[in-house]
Amino acid sequence: MKVIFHGHACFEIESMEGRIIIDPFLRNNPNAKATPEDFETLDAILISHGHSDHFGDAIELAKKTGAVIVSNFEIGCFAERSGVRVHQMHIGGKYKFPFGTIKLVPAFHGSGIPNGDGTFLYGGLACGFLVQVEKKWLYHAGDTGLFGDMNLIGRQYELELAMLPIGDNFVMGSEDAVIATQMLRPKNVIPMHYNTFPVIKQDEKAFIDLLHLKAPESRGILLEAGQVLNL
Ligand code: NI
Ligand code: MN
Repeated sequence: MKVIFHGHACFEIESMEGRIIIDPFLRNNPNAKATPEDFETLDAILISHGHSDHFGDAIELAKKTGAVIVSNFEIGCFAERSGVRVHQMHIGGKYKFPFGTIKLVPAFHGSGIPNGDGTFLYGGLACGFLVQVEKKWLYHAGDTGLFGDMNLIGRQYELELAMLPIGDNFVMGSEDAVIATQMLRPKNVIPMHYNTFPVIKQDEKAFIDLLHLKAPESRGILLEAGQVLNL
């Protein structure tokens, strides 16, 4: 499979089973190289929570490609009003789709859907995603602080890859992401949610060094927007 990073928290997973995009923040993402126009076919759009740097261009992509939006119940209901295909789920639940198996797991974060005037629609609870394609489990943490039940995820699933935020301020910083890695024990780690805005500026190379020192069984991988990891 191919895992393509599009900057911030946006990843595309291209496997034998299909093509999935997670948190499709493209048009207003200063680091993204891709735009919604670049996507001709897409099977699923996963949205971790209602904030605009994650919900992003989901509706436009769903309309253009016919992809199904997979998210929590509240965001699913919101998206459905735009006439796109949705599959609502909630935390703890998993479902086997033709394009892979998806499980929603907790994330400690908000999930309001901004109205654009400082008010929010209720967007349920933020989540992370476990995605199984080609018999391999991938974990996208969404926006979250460090929490102890990552240990549970690491015990229950043998993770090929964990995509973890390191930007600090709104989410985990590098030190907490290293502790998360110790609990999750993934083969590979890609940091995300950093350097998009000044407030989440991080030294990503220092994160990789710390990771290799404190969690030597996991391989840290830095991807620039547009770069691909083959798994
Ligand atoms: Ni957020
Ligand atoms: Mn965010």
